[in-house]
Order: sequence, then structure tokens, then C-alpha cells
Amino acid sequence: MQIRSTTDQDLDVFVDTLHAAFGRFPETPTGGGGVWWSALEMDRGLLALTEDGRPVGTAGAYSFELTLPGETIAPCAGVTAVGVLPSHRRRGVLSALMRHQLAELRSRGEFLSVLLASEALIYRRFGYGPATYTQRLTVPRHRAALAPPRARGAAGAPADGADGGAVELLRRSECGEILEEVYDRYRRAQPGALSRPHRWWASGAGQPPVSSAPRYVALHRDADGVPDGYAAYTLGEAETLTVDETVAVDDAVHTALVRFVLGHDLVTEVVIKHVPPLHPLRWQFADFRAGEVSGDTDWLWVRLLDVPRALTARGWCADGELVLDVDDPFLDERGRYLLSVRDGKADCVATDRAPDLSLDVSDLGSVYLGGTAPSTLVRAGHIRAHRPGAPALADALFRSDRAPHCLHWF
Ligand SMILES: CC(C)(COP(=O)(O)OP(=O)(O)OC[C@H]1O[C@@H](n2cnc3c(N)ncnc32)[C@H](O)[C@@H]1OP(=O)(O)O)[C@@H](O)C(=O)NCCC(=O)NCCS
Repeated sequence: MQIRSTTDQDLDVFVDTLHAAFGRFPETPTGGGGVWWSALEMDRGLLALTEDGRPVGTAGAYSFELTLPGETIAPCAGVTAVGVLPSHRRRGVLSALMRHQLAELRSRGEFLSVLLASEALIYRRFGYGPATYTQRLTVPRHRAALAPPRARGAAGAPADGADGGAVELLRRSECGEILEEVYDRYRRAQPGALSRPHRWWASGAGQPPVSSAPRYVALHRDADGVPDGYAAYTLGEAETLTVDETVAVDDAVHTALVRFVLGHDLVTEVVIKHVPPLHPLRWQFADFRAGEVSGDTDWLWVRLLDVPRALTARGWCADGELVLDVDDPFLDERGRYLLSVRDGKADCVATDRAPDLSLDVSDLGSVYLGGTAPSTLVRAGHIRAHRPGAPALADALFRSDRAPHCLHWF
């Protein structure tokens, strides 16, 4: 078997092979109406071929930016389009693609890669760990009342218009580049969020509302008329209003949008997708049990390709020092690093000091964005703590001032 890079000329064979791996047909439209492969970057694709040149496997990567804790923004590879023909599975084709891809990403100078996993058992062996999580909230309309904020002078839950802003109703097709601009503002301040390159919006590559599938869009504008949030939704069977995504530059805008969709007439229940776990929304309901959580799952998986660069790229909200022994069995590498954090910035250098924590690179990926507490992985038996205070110190260091969340599908 051989692995080779793709060019634009390989698009058809790449898309055909990938669809065959998933048992689908490229000519059958998928939900959402977007042609997702128009966003593929064919100069970043890989094809696995048999000795006689037949394509049997694919892997691709997008060029994204990822927002890290401390509102720093780093380039990252968004691994995608991974598939191996059913006739050639469990013979090491994916492993060969992953090995080739990781080497190529490093040769491009990239230090982070991310993906969404179709199955949770596939990617840990390649050094990826789940790093952000997501939920779906189903709210029966009759329980949907929001409580007034209890803090005096709080701006947390103003009625629509009370903050000087207003919600305008548009159709997806009327939005022009407004959603793209609002999303870009939002993602720059949200750890775990990915950029959505212009070509995604321009070609409708992705799930609604990136795709041009019919949607209503509740667009929030601030007191000066500047768009600062949106909720894209559709009204389906059984009077269920489903919100694809709610994007807001702050909590007050988020509340105004939620208030809007919850107030929709002729609706029995509202399903809100992509809610970050522990989001304040549940606390805003008068009835704490109003929202039923489902679809509680991992979303973005993170892989560090260069530990010191990745750790120095993010911001930190506590000072301290930790020695990390990091094992990377897939790449057959092991490193011990002294992480020193002062005033929000880290130094990370090789050391021979005794380790505080020993961990697999996939577990470092899980804690990297601050969405998984290192102590949880110590308690789960995955990270080894060499002294009693180390898990608590690691929790304080790796925590993000705002929980990471990603709602981009790719
Ligand atoms: C997932 C997929 C790409 C794996 O390809 P593959 O060539 O069979 O994988 P490999 O032979 O390199 O497997 C490497 C190891 O991972 C394990 N593995 C691979 N896929 C797995 C899965 N879905 N669940 C559990 N283990 C899996 C293999 O058993 C093997 O383990 P071993 O090294 O202990 O023997 C392939 O099954 C596929 O195309 N599935 C459908 C499409 C899909 O889900 N793609 C992923 C999109 S995110």
C-alpha cells in the first residue's frame, strides 16, 4: 500500500472513495443542502492506494484557526474526510494515513490538530483526546419561562429590547454575509471555537446555517444596529422548533435570542442544539428542570503535535510550575517538560526534574483547552500524579476562564 498527497485533479476519486467508505453515494443530496466537499483543501488531502494503484482510503485537513484559553488564536489542522473502504478495513490503512498525516502536519510547522470523531474508539491511539463537549436541550414551551435575574443591576437576562438591542427576523437567504461576520466575532472570544473560512459560507459547505438550507434567522442587533448574535431555526413536525445554533457575542445577547425562540407561537417544544455543558441557560429558567438534556457527547478532539509550542501558545489564568512526563506511543516519543506559568503566559522547556504528572499525549489533548479537569483523568486512572497536590495545581493551571466550546461541524 502507498499513501500519496492529492491535488485538485483528485477531487472526484477522493469524494467517491470517501463516500464508498461511508456506504453513501455522492449524487444523493445529504441533509442541509450544502455540498460539503466544496470546502475541501485538496492540497492537504491524502489517498491510500493498493500496490496496483486502486484508491482504498482517504484523509484530509482544513486550515482553521482555533481560539485558545486567554483569547489567543492559533492555526490548527482540522482533520476530516477519513475513510477506508469496507473491503480493506483492519489492515492498517487508517494507521498509515494517520502516521503520514501527522508527519506532514509537522513538516508544515503545525502544532495542533483537531477532529470530530464518528466513533469514540478510533482516534485515541493516534494521540487525540476529547476536549470539548456539547449537549442538546429540549424545553417544553409551557415550562419555558425565564426567571428575572436575582442580582441587583444585573444585565444577565434583559427582556428583548431592554438592553437597547432588538431581534429582527430574516430568512437564511436574506442574510448575506451577516452570519459570517457575527460568527467571526463570536469565535474569536470563545475558547474551543474554530474559524469558518469564507469559502465555507460562500459555497454553503456545512450544516445549517452555513448551508443554504431554508432556515429562519433571529438576528440580534445592538443599540447601534450592529449585528451581534443570531439563532438559526426551523419549525418541524409536532410543533417542534429546532435551533441549529445560537451564536452571541455575550450572555445578554444569548438570553435575548433564547427568549425570542422560546416565545414563538404555535410551538410545543423548543430543541436547542449545541449547548455547552454547564451553560448558565439552565439557571435562567424559572423552573430549573425545564430543559431536558440529551445528546450529551464529546465534540472537538485535540492532538498536540509539538508540546512546548502548544503549551506556550495558550493563555493561562493562574501562576505555578508543573513537570509533565508526556508519552506519545503512536509517534514513539516521550518528553519531560517544565511548565512555568507567570502572569498569564507559560514557558515550557525540557527538564530532567522529577515529574508531577505522567500522562499520554491524548490526555494532554483533553485537558489542553481547559474543558476537562486533569484531576478527573487522575481519578479515572489515566493520568498518574506523583505527589498529592499535583492534580489540584494542574486543575488551577489548565482551567480556562471561559469553558471551551465548539459548534462548528466539519
Ligand atoms: C474508522 C476506519 C477509518 C478505520 O480504518 P482501518 O483502516 O480499518 O483502521 P486500521 O486498520 O488502521 O486500525 C487501527 C486500529 O484501530 C482499530 N480501529 C479502527 N477502527 C475502529 C473502530 N471503528 N472502532 C474500534 N477500533 C477501531 C483497529 O482495530 C486497529 O486496532 P489494532 O491496532 O489494535 O489492531 C474505517 O473503519 C472506516 O472508514 N469507517 C467508516 C468511516 C468512518 O467512520 N470514518 C471516520 C470518520 S471520523
